[in-house]
Parts: sequence; C-alpha cells; structure tokens
Amino acid sequence: MSDAMRPSRNLSRRLLLGAAAAALSGASSLDAAFAQTALAQTSLPPTPSCDDGDDPTPAQTAGPFFKPRSPERQSLIEPGMTGTRIALAGMVLTRSCRPVPNVLLDLWQADARGVYDNKGFRLRGHQFSDARGCYRFETVVPGRYPGRTPHLHLRVQAKGRPILTTQLYFPDEAGNARDGLFDPALLMRTQAAASGVEAQYDFVLAIR
Ligand SMILES: [Fe+2]
Repeated sequence: MSDAMRPSRNLSRRLLLGAAAAALSGASSLDAAFAQTALAQTSLPPTPSCDDGDDPTPAQTAGPFFKPRSPERQSLIEPGMTGTRIALAGMVLTRSCRPVPNVLLDLWQADARGVYDNKGFRLRGHQFSDARGCYRFETVVPGRYPGRTPHLHLRVQAKGRPILTTQLYFPDEAGNARDGLFDPALLMRTQAAASGVEAQYDFVLAIR
C-alpha cells in the first residue's frame, strides 16, 4: 500500500457501490442508508485493498533482535503468556494484486512488557502463505521499549525472491509520531474483538 488511507478509500468505494446496487434493485434510500451503516459496521474488508500497480510494501530495518530458524507455527501464544491477544491476518500479493502462495513469513516481536527473547524463540515463528496467498498469526500486542512505538517485525520472502524485511505498526498509538522509523504505509487495520484485537495487513511484494 502506498498510503495508509487507501483501505478506507476502497471501503468507501464499496459502500457507494453497495448503495448504488440497492438503488438499482428498487430499495428505498432508507434501505440504502441502512446497508451503508451495516457495511460501515462490518469489520475488516474481505477483499484485498491492492490496486493494480500498487507500490510494494516498504522495507524497514530488521533491528538487532532477529534470529534465524524460528519454529514454524501460526500461534506464538504459550502457556502463561500475558498481554492482549491479537490475531494478524492478511494476504501476500504481487504488485498486480495476484495472491502469492507459499511465501515465507517470519515474525518476531517484543512481549507485552517490551522485552525480546534473545535466548529462545518466545514470540518468534514462521509460516507459509496458503494456496490463496493468505496467512494468519496469533500472538500478543507487543509493549513499548525505549525509543520505539509498539511494532511487529516481519521478513517476507517468496520462493527464489529477495527478502522483504519490514515492521508493522498499530493505529492510534501516540508513540507513532515520535518514532523516527514509523511509516503510515505500514499501519495495520485493527479492531477490538472478544478475544482481544483483530488486525489485518496485506503485503505487496515487488513482483508483477
Ligand atoms: Fe523491535
């Protein structure tokens, strides 16, 4: 995504299309308004927000805490782990919005207190995007640590392609504006859920 507002622009376009469809089908303007409200309350958009020719996801520094050979797993939650649960899901896409299966996604992060496990593999794990280009991690919201706003580190690599190393950020974090690494193009979309937080981010690789 080249800018963080693109998802909401796309959602707005979908709302307008929904209203137009409702009008064409003879529904009243009240129905159309209701449909818009219902859609606006709908959680995360089900379709990719990629535009044809979209900019690739920006790269960011790996920082000092990456460790190779993390375990393959979707859930990084371990018994006794504290912190708000977060499910991060999305797709891996080419610049022309084609889903990319079998992409390695390696995530590492601080725990809820802002501490990395540099001895073991706590809150570290990798997985591969599925046949539809989808991935999903279950983890906890990372805490702040000195000089940084909360963030997740990821390495994303399609088979035989260069590694994209980047970081994802949380919307509405006061610390974002004070963090020199923060990039709004790397904001996840988040919403509260019964289980904690649901977050969504689609990676766009520099592949046509
Ligand atoms: Fe970090």
